[in-house]
Amino acid sequence: MALRKRSRPPRQPRPARRLPQALIIGVRKCGTRALLEMLYLHPMVQKASGEVHFFDRDENYALGLEWYRSKMPLSFKGQITIEKSPSYFVTPEVPERVRAMNSSVRLLLIVREPVTRAISDYTQLRSRATPSAPALQLPGHPVPDAAKPFEHLAISPDGSINIAYRPIAISLYHAYLHRWLEVFPREQILVVNGDLLIEDPVPQLRRIEKFLGLEHKIGRKNFYFNETKGFYCLRNDTTDKCLRETKGRKHPRVDPAVVTKLRKFFIQHNQRFYDLIGEDLGWPE
Ligand code: A3P
Repeated sequence: MALRKRSRPPRQPRPARRLPQALIIGVRKCGTRALLEMLYLHPMVQKASGEVHFFDRDENYALGLEWYRSKMPLSFKGQITIEKSPSYFVTPEVPERVRAMNSSVRLLLIVREPVTRAISDYTQLRSRATPSAPALQLPGHPVPDAAKPFEHLAISPDGSINIAYRPIAISLYHAYLHRWLEVFPREQILVVNGDLLIEDPVPQLRRIEKFLGLEHKIGRKNFYFNETKGFYCLRNDTTDKCLRETKGRKHPRVDPAVVTKLRKFFIQHNQRFYDLIGEDLGWPE
């Protein structure tokens, strides 16, 4: 007796949680959130909602890849899952751990002019320490770092640049990038110019779509400039939003002589970064 073949109903694509195929590794305060939200305008992109800190925090890393996967959004086959945790860039163990997960993962590194980034970092630290008003100074207590003027933190009393100050240290991009380049080929890291992303996101996103192997989908229709915020806001069929007020903060005025001094200090460091990436980003000197 001939067996009758049972015809199967066509398979419905089922969403699943997948490990990220692309990571935004940093740099903090360079537009990492803006970049993730902008990429999420693309129909083939899914994003992890928060910063997962899997590779940089030992207690999370110890939970293993299945834990990491559980933090990922549902995605369909062919979609790209992206996660961003800016501290990945500066944490020594991370490049090797990322490679162990997926040696062909695509890495996005967004940078800004380093002095602007340092001031942005200071502004964030200060706002966290002093949510609404300047810190109350209790008699006999030292002034907390975040309540000091940027100039006093970035420049030591002897007039030298205080490279131990975190916002300055993190702007020394070459000091961290070289570790990544010991583990990943240069072509696997796309350096995104965060200052250009602020000015005009579409051309930057085109480059990124290409790098991620995505069809060009994000265009002018997805952005409008919000005069009050002073930044582009995002829209597609399901979204119409500006980034939160913690993104695009007003920076305090910094003594121009200090800015000039810092810019001068960064010249040689920026050059080392340009040498590593094989591109001159033209930051002011
Ligand atoms: P400022 O708040 O100092 O201006 P991150 O998300 O990595 O913390 O970066 C924050 C920075 O993203 C902001 O720093 C802001 O300059 C930048 N940014 C880029 N595009 C933006 C946008 N469309 N809206 C708001 N901020 C944006």
